[in-house]
Amino acid sequence: MSSKRTFTMIKPDAVEKGHTGAILNKINASGFRIVSMKMTQMSKRDAELFYAVHKERPFFGELVAFMSRGPIVAAILEKENAVDDFRTLIGATNPEEAAEGTLRNQFATSVGENAVHGSDSDENAAIEGAFHFSSREMF
Ligand code: RTP
Ligand code: MG
Repeated sequence: MSSKRTFTMIKPDAVEKGHTGAILNKINASGFRIVSMKMTQMSKRDAELFYAVHKERPFFGELVAFMSRGPIVAAILEKENAVDDFRTLIGATNPEEAAEGTLRNQFATSVGENAVHGSDSDENAAIEGAFHFSSREMF
């Protein structure tokens, strides 16, 4: 059974550029309900743990430095088919390959600094949501 929740972060590049409001508008207009949301900053250690799956990849150091360099907006979102529909809304990892109308097509500048995170499975959505929010912060 597919779960109705996914987890997202508006990444430091998009927050720095003032795109938070526009991205949240598009998320709402696409039918996602906000279950949890906060502005926060990950420490280097937080980013290492969050992206531990990529620790052997050549871009890991760059990714950790980027994700911890400034505030993010973290959120849990709810919709039927949330994980897949949100991945469709954000578009490909590389903004040059991201379809017209996707968040990364509109707001990302490079494969590294790509504006928005979206969970890639129901299991990871639950793990990532619990990384940032307690059950008392889920509505
Ligand atoms: P995300 O987890 O952030 O939603 O992104 P994704 O699934 O589309 O891509 P993933 O393969 O999980 O990579 C995680 C993040 O690492 C950075 N990255 N940099 N320099 C590079 O070649 C490179 N490749 C990936 C991106 O910030 C990517 O979103
Ligand atoms: Mg990923």
